[in-house]
Amino acid sequence: MEHAGRTALVTGATGGLGVAQSRMLAEAGARVLMLDVKGEAVVDELRSTLPEGAGELVWVACDLADPQGTKERAAALDAQYGGIDIVVNNAAINPLKAIDAYDLAEWQRVQDINATACVAIAQATVPSMKRKGFGQIVNITTVTLNGGWEDFTAYVGSKGTLLGLTRSMARELGKFGIRVNCISPGAIPTPLEQEVWADQIDSYVKFLIDHQALKYRGSADDIAHALMFLISDRARFVTGHNLSVDGGWWMH
Ligand SMILES: NC(=O)c1ccc[n+]([C@@H]2O[C@H](COP(=O)([O-])OP(=O)(O)OC[C@H]3O[C@@H](n4cnc5c(N)ncnc54)[C@H](O)[C@@H]3O)[C@@H](O)[C@H]2O)c1
Repeated sequence: MEHAGRTALVTGATGGLGVAQSRMLAEAGARVLMLDVKGEAVVDELRSTLPEGAGELVWVACDLADPQGTKERAAALDAQYGGIDIVVNNAAINPLKAIDAYDLAEWQRVQDINATACVAIAQATVPSMKRKGFGQIVNITTVTLNGGWEDFTAYVGSKGTLLGLTRSMARELGKFGIRVNCISPGAIPTPLEQEVWADQIDSYVKFLIDHQALKYRGSADDIAHALMFLISDRARFVTGHNLSVDGGWWMH
């Protein structure tokens, strides 16, 4: 039980990738605060499947579109649980629109949920991490940060902020024993993919496989495994890194 006695906060925890991350963290013994705007039933369902000895799952209803409210909520959780040790900034929204089709309020909402909330959570949790001399922060970015997709500006802009934050926070916090990394997923099958691509799903999947070096689809567990590596002692010398988990789609 590598993370027994630790508390992890996962945002967007009831979504496609968040459930796998929460499950693996709990299986490694961590108490997992599963934060999302919706999905309490998902938390209940996951709880019922965990093996004996796994960490506790706690449902946290919170709207990341309100960064000040998020900061206060995260600070209260930090105090309640004796300091949050692991933060996974996984929540995101991605309304696809041309750059000149957004109104600025809509643009700002994407930035607030996808990026500013991560700053709010850091402000609430980094003080106790500094006191403990231990902390892990993992931000979920995206393969789309590499360019190549139209109508993604608000989403990709927010993920660019996350990448910059990862590097600057890693530099600032390393001396306190806090590591900050990102994971850049490729295209991972989720219910949303089926919904968005519907009757074009076959040609969409062909497009993905053509671009990947590995000729099979990734899974939510592949992303969660990368998370478990980055927060483990096996990655003790890794910080400020953006780990691509995309089947060799984009090579740097
Ligand atoms: N699935 C993929 O192929 C893929 C690829 C690249 C990057 N990603 C990234 O992985 C992460 C998870 O993606 P996913 O595929 O699981 O998406 P998802 O839509 O299934 O999950 C996102 C979760 O965030 C939550 N969320 C949205 N707005 C929120 C708000 N205001 N407050 C709190 N929670 C909110 C949603 O309720 C949802 O549960 C995202 O950061 C996404 O950008 C995913």
